[in-house]
Amino acid sequence: MTTAVQLDGITKRFPGVLANDDVDLTVEQGTVHALLGENGAGKTTLMNILYGLYEPTDGRIVVDGDERSFESPRAAIDAGIGMIHQHFMLVEPMTVAENVTLGAEPRKWGGLAVDADAAVREVAALSEQYGLDVDPTAPVETLSVGVQQRTEILKALYRGADVLILDEPTAVLTPQEVEELLSIFDHLTDQGKTIIFITHKLGEAMAAADDITVLRDGQTIGSIAADDTSREALAEMMVGREVLLEIERPPVETGSTLLTVKNVSTPSQRGVPAVSDVSFSAHAGEIFGIAGVDGNGQRELIELLTGLSTPASGSIVFDGEVITHASRRERIERGIAYVPEDRHAQGLVMPFDLVENGLLGNQRTSSFANAGRIDWAACKEHASSIIEEYDVRPPNPSASAESLSGGNQQKFIVGRELARDPTLLIATHPTRGVDIGSTEFIHEQLLALREAGVAVVLVSSKLDEVRGLSDRMAVMHDGMFVDTVDPDAVTEEELGLLMAGEHPTGGEQ
Ligand SMILES: Nc1ncnc2c1ncn2[C@@H]1O[C@H](COP(=O)(O)OP(=O)(O)OP(=O)(O)O)[C@@H](O)[C@H]1O
Ligand SMILES: [Mg+2]
Repeated sequence: MTTAVQLDGITKRFPGVLANDDVDLTVEQGTVHALLGENGAGKTTLMNILYGLYEPTDGRIVVDGDERSFESPRAAIDAGIGMIHQHFMLVEPMTVAENVTLGAEPRKWGGLAVDADAAVREVAALSEQYGLDVDPTAPVETLSVGVQQRTEILKALYRGADVLILDEPTAVLTPQEVEELLSIFDHLTDQGKTIIFITHKLGEAMAAADDITVLRDGQTIGSIAADDTSREALAEMMVGREVLLEIERPPVETGSTLLTVKNVSTPSQRGVPAVSDVSFSAHAGEIFGIAGVDGNGQRELIELLTGLSTPASGSIVFDGEVITHASRRERIERGIAYVPEDRHAQGLVMPFDLVENGLLGNQRTSSFANAGRIDWAACKEHASSIIEEYDVRPPNPSASAESLSGGNQQKFIVGRELARDPTLLIATHPTRGVDIGSTEFIHEQLLALREAGVAVVLVSSKLDEVRGLSDRMAVMHDGMFVDTVDPDAVTEEELGLLMAGEHPTGGEQ
């Protein structure tokens, strides 16, 4: 076997943080190598170093037997290293072929003009060769997340990548798309490409990877062949203790109806209904789950519940009062807390520190503001208690939100929202990008809220999560609730069909 990439003693120090501490990683050519580890363990940092985004403080990078140092991603790309980030970098109105070839377009007329036809042909050929199934002429904005991701893969392949790094590629995919991506990994490695992928999902790592390396606190804990380990063993390597991998939902007596949503509809920007005649209720001491493929109106429905938008028709009643047109602020004051889907756009102000971020939505609460003046000492104390309770790392209230790893940002938001002592919690993808130990913790918090008589509306694309936590659950497709199902009785196959808009028992709805 030849070694594609070898990292030797990589150390990366940020001001006050040792993100990588003498890390070793050996990746064999033609294999899939999974990188696991808790939030903040240093996975993204290590890959950013390999991709030339960060310069290591110390250590050696060996690619194809040659020691290299990359001062930019361009240098890494020239050495055959490609990286697909979690936030895609595609230009929306342009087509797949235009995006893939951007900056490296095939030319005609002696180099005078871009050869658009050749671009389409070359991209089609690459897509075919690696089983990516992408239409080169499709505008990127019309594509699902999964296909956009494959466009990013094409972009790296077009630039000659032999090693592909994917940072949590499956976090945003539907179960079906995950299957497709993993089979693309097979196509790629069959043809000699090497894949390094970061994930928090142990089952995926076991299924897709040849080898698995675990990082903890910036250090390599170990590398192991996927065939020689188990989910339990990996979980323990990652967290350093045993982790509860299954959700246990004890019986709880349900109380009064807290939220009643009646026939709400809202048009989308394109004129077609984004939410179409949705009705449901949520009770005290109950978790009401909404499952579905992303982009089927869940986001728009949640915006109606949180006051980020108002419905064109229908009504929303909370705790006996009509709140259909109540503002976001009014709803917070009435006891509705919200863990948003997009932590960058809605959950946090990235350049602000955690003290300031802990204050968001609390500016008018008497414990933080006195006669219009903000009590910064109380704010700092508040941020510190969230940090401690939710194990946010690094435990520094003066750290900016943007300096935290994705999972730690998420833990901070969940902590802030639960600290409001809500009557109703609306949580969208509360554990997206969150490591297994913290996922277990967040699940426990949601179940504790339920036990304390809070109503929880949970949107999640993780099937095991939404099934494990919910007392009742609806499946959303094309803006509508296709069906309401018993989470304990429904099978994965039935759910898959419902999520695709089909009724397992009687044709399409
Ligand atoms: N640009 C930066 N400036 C300061 N600290 C940083 C920076 N980037 C990362 N860190 C810190 O380095 C550590 C490792 O972060 P990294 O993003 O590599 O973690 P990760 O393993 O990818 O975590 P996650 O699973 O949450 O994505 C964290 O403590 C993080 O806060
Ligand atoms: Mg990361």
